[in-house]
Amino acid sequence: MTASLWGGRFTGGPSDALAALSKSTHFDWRLAPYDLAGSRAHARVLHRAGLLSDEHLGVMLGGLRQLGEDVRSGEFVPAPDDEDVHTALERGLIERIGPDVGGRLRAGRSRNDQVATQFRMYLRDQARLLSAKVLDVVQALLDQAAAHPTTAMPGRTHLQHAQPVLLAHHLQAHAWALLRDVDRWADWDVRAAVSPYGSGALAGSSLGLDPESIAHDLGMDRPSENSIDGTASRDFAAEFSFVAAMVSVDLSRIAEEVILWATAEFGFVTLDDAFSTGSSIMPQKKNPDVAELARGKAGRLIGDLAGLMATLKGLPLAYNRDLQEDKEPVFDAVDTLEVLLPAVAGMVATLTFDIDRLAQLAPQGFSLATDVAEWLVRQGVPFRVAHEVAGGCVRVCEERGIGLEELSDEDLAAISPHLDPQVRGVLTVEGSLASRNAHGGTAPARVSEQHAHLLKQVARH
Ligand code: ARG
Repeated sequence: MTASLWGGRFTGGPSDALAALSKSTHFDWRLAPYDLAGSRAHARVLHRAGLLSDEHLGVMLGGLRQLGEDVRSGEFVPAPDDEDVHTALERGLIERIGPDVGGRLRAGRSRNDQVATQFRMYLRDQARLLSAKVLDVVQALLDQAAAHPTTAMPGRTHLQHAQPVLLAHHLQAHAWALLRDVDRWADWDVRAAVSPYGSGALAGSSLGLDPESIAHDLGMDRPSENSIDGTASRDFAAEFSFVAAMVSVDLSRIAEEVILWATAEFGFVTLDDAFSTGSSIMPQKKNPDVAELARGKAGRLIGDLAGLMATLKGLPLAYNRDLQEDKEPVFDAVDTLEVLLPAVAGMVATLTFDIDRLAQLAPQGFSLATDVAEWLVRQGVPFRVAHEVAGGCVRVCEERGIGLEELSDEDLAAISPHLDPQVRGVLTVEGSLASRNAHGGTAPARVSEQHAHLLKQVARH
């Protein structure tokens, strides 16, 4: 007997070229714990169906336990001619308990339902682990927000000065985006918690095995409703990858701002030495490599998602070997986020903000012009006129190289009869911030409410 799971109808073994192409143990070995759990559950279901005696079940579970220990200790590893993780572990079991009992485990299952189930189990665990790491980034953002409850900064649209906002409000915006990603993985889990085990190769099992009990045994909510769909679908992997890519895109947007903020021209933040790098030639350099790698890795994760989608596109039902290509891109996304998230969390946690510079820049670029227009609206002036008048103020200031608050009483009267010196009351950053007082606005009271809401969201996960 060969180690292969399908030798029977063949007279010779696979060519070296085929074996080299076909092999997946170098990447699917990480599924070993899930394959072993699947085998334990399958042994029990065979036993319940009367296909495995009490004694054989005991031997089988004992062998699987030993094999599990040997996998964990590194004593058992895939052999060069093991095709995949499933083949290798079946070989390992048979080596431990012999072919008579060990050879009974494969009844009623196929690598097609095994791999579809195990990939789901693995990703469910990863979604939980990665979500915790995303929440660490959220916490770092919230800690920075809490440390700067009243710091104003120039809020931007089109990267141009727009209106003053609180730094905390800006940081909270990134936190909300990442929290939605965590929510996405939680929502995804409802669909992922389905076990294709019992689907067999594609048509289901004839041996009276109970897919429902095996599903529950594996911590899944329910068995798949359709054995063809169970073995052929990979939208669970694509959806997981989308969330991973979305996390990376959200990190990349934080990263891009850190890169800009750390320039001499912005001067908003200083990076901690532990989260920046030097140059091999320019002694003065302090580079934001963590942020740049975050920005760069986003491209990689988008590529992982796109690659998987391209693999799935046009595949006929049910299982096709193309599906073996589903794992590496998703594993890559997992591995990338695993190292990226702690680095971004550390970088954010250790940023030092130049709050004086932020405050000084907050009113620049006529960012209080909207406050002038809205003051006029409160005096009963139609907004169309108010916008025009405030724009007139900006024009005069620009010509003279002065700020809005420097317009004299005469200047104001000359620009428009609607203006009077009272308008100066809104020409402060504090006044502007406090006036944006509706739900979700940047007023300090709203921002501290938001903070409490965010902390509750973090605690909920
Ligand atoms: N290693 C394969 C995969 O990852 C599972 C094996 C299914 N092979 C087969 N010939 N039906 O998709």
